[in-house]
Amino acid sequence: MTKLPSSTRTIPEVAKVPRHIAIIMDGNGRWAKQRFMPRVMGHQRGVESLREVVKGCRELGVEYLTVFAFSSENWRRPADEVTFLMSLFVKALEREARRLQRENVRLQIIGDRSRFDDKLRQCMLDAEQLTAANTGLTFTVAANYGGRWDVMHAVQAMLREHPALASTFTEEDLQPYLSMSDAPEPDLFIRTGGEQRISNFMLWQLAYTELYFTDTLWPAFNRAELDKAIASYQTRERRFGRTSEQVQEITGKGVADA
Ligand code: FPP
Repeated sequence: MTKLPSSTRTIPEVAKVPRHIAIIMDGNGRWAKQRFMPRVMGHQRGVESLREVVKGCRELGVEYLTVFAFSSENWRRPADEVTFLMSLFVKALEREARRLQRENVRLQIIGDRSRFDDKLRQCMLDAEQLTAANTGLTFTVAANYGGRWDVMHAVQAMLREHPALASTFTEEDLQPYLSMSDAPEPDLFIRTGGEQRISNFMLWQLAYTELYFTDTLWPAFNRAELDKAIASYQTRERRFGRTSEQVQEITGKGVADA
């Protein structure tokens, strides 16, 4: 398994365009409500925003896009909304998989799939297998995912394989067992819909990610909004706990180790 540098220990390479963008797509229900539509219409329109953002990321050269489609806590929503979301996932996966394949996008799904029905699990597997060899954007959908679940699950898996590590393991030992072990940590986190919180998304990986919050509701989020978020990111100085001078000295010399 690969071991990638951790932002708490080294200064990762920082590019002008974020290598990895993580998004909480919030505000679907409110978007629909404002238009006197049922909440679920907002989710339906949200798939179109997602398609536009995937396209934008491909065009900009973003390498990884990770979106929160369904949290471990979303099961508590009204039963008919949960049922609608499940059938929306099936339809979107069936419809979009071929497009993603044509566009050289690799789709992967993270989260605990055991609670999804057989049909949805099969659709997820089919879409992943169809796009597995693609070399363009890696598009990850988090479904029945929670950041704490991810860390707990990783610790359990690591200890099953290496029981002797119980009292000595390091970040680097754990990292390969986390859901996004093959991706660099997100450079930019976007949350739409006006709330300013992480909501149990990628808790481990967001340690030094730049956070961007917008009042725009997810169904209204488009390419121009994506460009705005990236422009904001480009004004940030990423210090990873150091001083400005240290970062300039370290990155100037190309020495990344802390
Ligand atoms: C949050 O808005 C949104 C969700 C819980 C679902 C997001 C899912 C999609 C956009 C579909 C994605 C499809 C695939 C295949 C990845 P909310 O309902 O919490 O909005 P509110 O805060 O206004 O109530």
